Amino acid sequence: MSFPKDFLWGGATAANQYEGGYLEGGKGINTSDTLTNGSHTVSRRVTWKNPETGETGSVPMFFMGQSEHFLPEGAIPAIIEGEYYPSHIATDFYHHYKEDIALIGEMGFKAFRLSMNWARIFPNGDDEFPNEEGLKFYDDVFDECKKYGIEPLVTLSHYETPIGLTIKYGGWKDRRCIDFFERYATTVIKRYAGKVKYYLTFNEINIMSMMPYMAGGLIDFSNQAKAQGAHNQFVASAKVVKFCHENYPDIKIGQMLAYGPVYTYTCDPADQILALERSQETLWYADVQTGGHYPEYKLKDYERKGIHLDDCPEDYELLEKYSADFLSFSCYGSSTVTTHKDIAGNGEGNFIMGVKNPYVKTNAWGWATDPACLRLACNTLYYRYNKPIWIVENGIGWNDELEADHTVHDDYRIDYLRQNIQSMDDAINKDGVNLMGYTMWGCIDLVSAGTGEMRKRYGFVYVDRDDEGKGTLNRYKKDSFYWYKKVIATQGEDLD
Ligand code: BG6
Repeated sequence: MSFPKDFLWGGATAANQYEGGYLEGGKGINTSDTLTNGSHTVSRRVTWKNPETGETGSVPMFFMGQSEHFLPEGAIPAIIEGEYYPSHIATDFYHHYKEDIALIGEMGFKAFRLSMNWARIFPNGDDEFPNEEGLKFYDDVFDECKKYGIEPLVTLSHYETPIGLTIKYGGWKDRRCIDFFERYATTVIKRYAGKVKYYLTFNEINIMSMMPYMAGGLIDFSNQAKAQGAHNQFVASAKVVKFCHENYPDIKIGQMLAYGPVYTYTCDPADQILALERSQETLWYADVQTGGHYPEYKLKDYERKGIHLDDCPEDYELLEKYSADFLSFSCYGSSTVTTHKDIAGNGEGNFIMGVKNPYVKTNAWGWATDPACLRLACNTLYYRYNKPIWIVENGIGWNDELEADHTVHDDYRIDYLRQNIQSMDDAINKDGVNLMGYTMWGCIDLVSAGTGEMRKRYGFVYVDRDDEGKGTLNRYKKDSFYWYKKVIATQGEDLD
């Protein structure tokens, strides 16, 4: 085992699942603030109100609607009294950042991925001036990171859009969001120059196809709106890259893609074609943002669906000239697909997981925990674009048990991480992939994005909080805390 000397070991979080501090310090409301909790079997909901009639209600977050309208006619997303919204306190990084950064510092983190809460900086999204108190909060956070020699990796929008942009403009389907985002991004890049070197523009940009409210603040779920939403985010990203190349050449802007290798259940050629099409549904997003142009297969798809982008020639010049500096991705496992539903049965896990693969284990939420997927993903993504790559999410959700003496024996997590790190080692040392770093997801326990639960924990550090929002928010080190500390100290050589 030998990882490069400058390998960025660390962990990852997102404001909407971790930060809390809802409406504190002048923060506005984000789309993610309107999400209730749920479970493995019950979907999280988005709450709404109709300002004309005063009527309120909710719709499942995993809306696979028959209609293109996510909310009923005249309704807007809203906070409804009496509902429980896990993001509002989450695991309260807002008030625990010093303690949390000390903990990750103790583990020896080289990098800490966190997202900035857009509505903490521009409360309505289209404000002319930023909220100084919000900017100050992140100044304090980055100063604290510096004390421990930790490099922040900042996601500018992780599953959240200021709700004002959704209500006034319909979210990212409106081109004006490009300018609002550019103002936000350039404001923070300037402010934190010298403190932050790495940014990601949009978390899992390809989730636009499946959950456009989360990824783009959309309530119009038509194919046309999703295509336009993605296009506008690509252009916004390219503008941020341009800004940095011209003003701060040392700052690097990455794309962030949700990626998992797609396997075929059988060797039937029809299954191979299905796997190809499934992969293309993800990869085209990287072809545009990291590769610099729309692939023909996507343009043909748009032609077939009658999608016409509101675009201009300058968009394509920007995309080509200012593609992302590096490609980061989340990878939790693989998915398996087949045209033979009768032999494979139904998949568990979530909607993108396909059918059950008898060769890989799954966790209690049905997620396939397949370590080989990291080596496969690294090879596919590195050799497709020849740009540095970074695994910014990987890990395993588990209903950890806090013992009476405040210990947590999470040997299943250690086992999962050991195998995944071995897979990365192969990608680097056997395959020659240029892998910049690894930030394990949810390094300090946080709310699950998919289910809104606390019980689906990923961290090295246990946070005392439950699914009803009860608990002291105290932090306790799990066994994996000490294990990961040793892994970092030995540059991945000691994985025992
Ligand atoms: C990624 C997201 O898709 O998966 C994170 O970027 C999310 O926000 C993570 O938390 C794990 O998913 P979940 O549903 O277990 O929280």
